[in-house]
Amino acid sequence: MLFPDEEWDLAGINDFRELEEKVKTCNRCRLRGGCRGVVFGEGNPAARVVLCGEGPGADEDLLGRPFVGKAGQLLDKILEACGFNRFVHVYILNTVKCRPPGNRIPAEDERAACRPNLDAQIRLIRPVIMVLLGATALQEIVDPGGRITRDRGKWVERDGMLIMPTYHPAALLRNPRLKVDAWKDFKQVVYKYRELVDPRHYSPHC
Ligand code: URA
Repeated sequence: MLFPDEEWDLAGINDFRELEEKVKTCNRCRLRGGCRGVVFGEGNPAARVVLCGEGPGADEDLLGRPFVGKAGQLLDKILEACGFNRFVHVYILNTVKCRPPGNRIPAEDERAACRPNLDAQIRLIRPVIMVLLGATALQEIVDPGGRITRDRGKWVERDGMLIMPTYHPAALLRNPRLKVDAWKDFKQVVYKYRELVDPRHYSPHC
């Protein structure tokens, strides 16, 4: 951790808005100095599904919202195919809340500095299902040695959540052949959502 801060105690915060205000003041690592602002997350904090990406990119940094660039547009299409809407059925967040310069992968100490923010979000949302978008989220949340090509598509149970690792939408844009497997993973998410959250959930494609 770059700026260890004994005062960064989020345990007493039980209100999601209050957490957002606090996290927006975070300055615990070098990323904050190189970006416009903190991208806290977006969606329905009462949703039962959380999607976790890597970190904000240029578009997200500009607009202060997660997944609003090209990868985000693809993510919205995938969500639509699942019958999900980003403001109703899910909450979208990232392993780090500040844009890494040049969109590099966030370093381990940067992720560690931001981890209390992520943990507090998860504690307050209490998702039933968590979808990990890409290797960075997989490595941060499930297994530091995780490999997305090997581990995607397999449920992991952790802290009362069911976790589904899948490809990052940016990877799907780079290599559209991966979309077949990503769709299999999202279909599993829809089936699990019907099983555990809403048996009547409608999705146009599965
Ligand atoms: N990629 C991510 O991992 N997160 C975003 O918010 C946008 C792009």
